Amino acid sequence: MPKLQSKSNTKINTGLRPEHDLYPTPKSCTEELLQREKFVGRIWECACGLGDISEVFLDQGHTVLSTDIIDHGYENISAVADFLKCRYSDSIPRNIVTNPPFKYANQFIKHGIELTKPHNGKLALFLRLNMLEGQKRYYEIYKPNPPARIWIFSARQTLWREKQEAPKGRSGTTAYAWFIWEGGTAEGDTRMKFIEP
Ligand SMILES: C[S@@+](CC[C@H](N)C(=O)[O-])C[C@H]1O[C@@H](n2cnc3c(N)ncnc32)[C@H](O)[C@@H]1O
Repeated sequence: MPKLQSKSNTKINTGLRPEHDLYPTPKSCTEELLQREKFVGRIWECACGLGDISEVFLDQGHTVLSTDIIDHGYENISAVADFLKCRYSDSIPRNIVTNPPFKYANQFIKHGIELTKPHNGKLALFLRLNMLEGQKRYYEIYKPNPPARIWIFSARQTLWREKQEAPKGRSGTTAYAWFIWEGGTAEGDTRMKFIEP
């Protein structure tokens, strides 16, 4: 006689990240950014995922170009494009805002600076706070291009994979901040600010 089995709802954490690192940014995190930073001109969300950042900018009246390396089904995506291979052109917005894929965060920072700095644009990246660390990163990124401001979320944030809903009442797991590059900030002039919980 076959054994009776019941389906378990237990989810095993495999430690694997979803393909292309799709972790949508909570809308509140982008709203906090927009309460503190002014953006003049069009915005490029260059790794738009499901459009969570783009939609907050659109809701506040901005014009947004949304692209991603794959089409995740966001209705307002303009093009499928590998950001790291994109070159500057006059038709591309001078302001770049995104939450980049974790494993390419360094490349996104460097390429984002290359595309915004010479054109007086602004780069705003939602990054883990521990992206501040690292000798290689210091010499390659922060020493030649210190951020203008770092907006630290005092409350930890949790980003849920793909289209999953965050369980109610769960507290955050990771320290995040908005890193802002704008103009030529001199070494030692980076301003660190807190976002109240
Ligand atoms: C952490 S998710 C963030 C999605 C969205 N920016 C947000 O904040 O909700 C990272 C996104 O980067 C995209 N991505 C990964 N590599 C990319 C690349 N080279 N160029 C453009 N997008 C890329 C993934 O498809 C995914 O949508």
